[in-house]
Formats: sequence, C-alpha cells, structure tokens
Amino acid sequence: MTTDFNVAMSGLNFRTPLLTGSGTFGYGDEFLSLIDYAPFGGIVTKSLSVRPRPGNPPPRICETPGGGVINSIGLANPGVEAFLAEKAGILPVKETKVFLSIFGETVEEFVTVMSRLETLEGISGYELNLSCPNVKQGGISIGGDSSAIAETVRECRNITDKFIAVKLTPHHTQVAPLAEAAAKNGASALTMINTLVGMMIDVETRMPLLGTVTGGYSGLPLKPVALAKVWQASKAVDIPIWASGGIVNGLDCIEFLLAGATGLQLGSVLFADPYSPGRILEEMDDYCRRHGVKSVEELIGALEKP
Ligand SMILES: Cc1cc2nc3c(=O)[nH]c(=O)nc-3n(C[C@H](O)[C@H](O)[C@H](O)COP(=O)(O)O)c2cc1C
Repeated sequence: MTTDFNVAMSGLNFRTPLLTGSGTFGYGDEFLSLIDYAPFGGIVTKSLSVRPRPGNPPPRICETPGGGVINSIGLANPGVEAFLAEKAGILPVKETKVFLSIFGETVEEFVTVMSRLETLEGISGYELNLSCPNVKQGGISIGGDSSAIAETVRECRNITDKFIAVKLTPHHTQVAPLAEAAAKNGASALTMINTLVGMMIDVETRMPLLGTVTGGYSGLPLKPVALAKVWQASKAVDIPIWASGGIVNGLDCIEFLLAGATGLQLGSVLFADPYSPGRILEEMDDYCRRHGVKSVEELIGALEKP
C-alpha cells in the first residue's frame, strides 16, 4: 500500500483512522490470536459501568433486511471492579491505542468509573457513551440534553488529561448544540453516531423479534444517517469526529472522510467479517491511488460544494 494512513487528532497520532465501535470487539483481548491489529489506529472497548449489568432479556439481537442488525444487549458488562481485576491486564495496549468506553446513569457514575480506570497504565483515553438507546436511565437521556452533556464532559475532563471522545445519539434534529456542549467542555473528539431505535416483528407469531421489543439499529442501512450527522457535527465544532454507522468497505470510509470525519469506527461489519479491517484499508488505498491522494488527511472535509 502506498497511501499515508496516519492521522493526528487532539495531540495523538494514529497509524490509521480505523477504530472499533464500542460493543463490537469486546475488550480487544479475545481477538489477539485471531486477527492482525496493524490496520487499527485504535480500539474502543465495550462500555463499562460502575456495577455489573446482566443486560436485557433474550432474544437480544436480530438481523434486518438490507444488511442491518438490531440489538438490545443493554450494556451487559462485568462492572468496573471486575473489569480491573480480570480484564485490564490483557488489554491489547502494545498492539494498538485502547480507548475505554464508559457508561453511567448519572454524571457521578461516569466520574466514578473514570476515576477507577485512571489507575490503569497504557490506555490512550476514553469514549463517553452518552447515547445508548437500550437502557432506561443515562444514555440518550443524558446525551439529548446539552447542559447534561456539558456537565458530564466537564466533570470527566477535571479528572483526566487523556483523550475523551463523546459519543452522541442520532435522535436529535439539532446536532450543533449537543456537539458544542461537548467540545466547549473538554471533549477531544465526537463519535457520531450511536444506533437508531428500531424494531422488527414476526408476523406469524405476532411477536417482536427482540425481548425488549425495540433495540438499537446498526449496520449498512445506517450510513446515510451517520454521514449527515458527521457532516453537521464537523460544521459545528473544530474537534475531530469519529464516524460510526454503516461502514462496511473502503469507499464508505472515503465518504465519511469527505464528510468531515477523521476517525472511522468499524462496528457491525466486524461480526460478519472480523478480517475486514485489512480489506478496508486496501480498498481505501486503491481509491487514493486512483485519485492521486498521498495522505488520507487530504480527504478530511474535502467534500465538493454541489
Ligand atoms: C451488539 C452491539 C453492541 C453494542 N454495544 C455498544 C456499547 O456497549 N457502547 C456503545 O457506545 N455502543 C455500542 N454499540 C454501538 C456501536 O458501537 C456502533 O456505534 C453502532 O453499531 C453503529 O455502527 P455500525 O453500523 O458500524 O455497527 C453496539 C452495537 C452493537 C451492534
């Protein structure tokens, strides 16, 4: 490959713009013996909360026509203390940059989890999940309110100098106030977007396909929504944007770069094809060679005016 994939973001250098989407790659350790980490600039781990969460009743995942997925995992995780005891030592920090995703029902819970994670060495930063649609408290209810976003980011920024990405919901027509609230209070990047609320029904049984009836819709069909939100956010703030939603190939990545993203998260595609990161970089390289692009940084926000 001839393209320079390096990207700089808020004081960190990433060898490629590719990252994992939280919840689609565990804590990174399970894949160590399976895949090459070289294509990843970084990984984002499954969201961690103060207490263990068993998650929602099954069934918790179903496919949709057109390559989508709806999940209602409900942020199942062992809780921060069990994570520190069992998983922290095996994070792939030598292989790539590791960002720990945090979820809380209140601002205090975000701060508590982050304070405990600050004891870890080798991690590059955090992603604050302010947008999960599968929980009753926290998630969208914090992430839909710009003053709650501002307070959460400010309190977290008070306890760390590390990189903080803030993951926002697509469920608001006005992206700018939410993006600005995060950026003005110390966010290093925004992650756009978390899943959309979706639902599927089995008409024969008249039953919903998910135990919680509704869930978070992800995968290929999400891309146009995510592109629009990335573009709107990149117009509203100066911090880098991590795109999340519907990336399955290299040309999807090029679209997100043109729309203003600097980081590119692979989510549902990793379930279908854990080896996709290498292929996606080759497809990006092919595009760059065809268009005389030497560095992917040339593409960020380079959308032509209609
Ligand atoms: C099974 C599953 C679990 C997820 N868990 C989390 C999570 O714990 N925290 C989070 O911020 N996002 C979570 N997400 C959302 C993804 O990180 C990503 O934002 C979303 O799937 C859109 O990207 P995609 O279309 O490439 O999958 C999850 C998604 C899936 C499919």
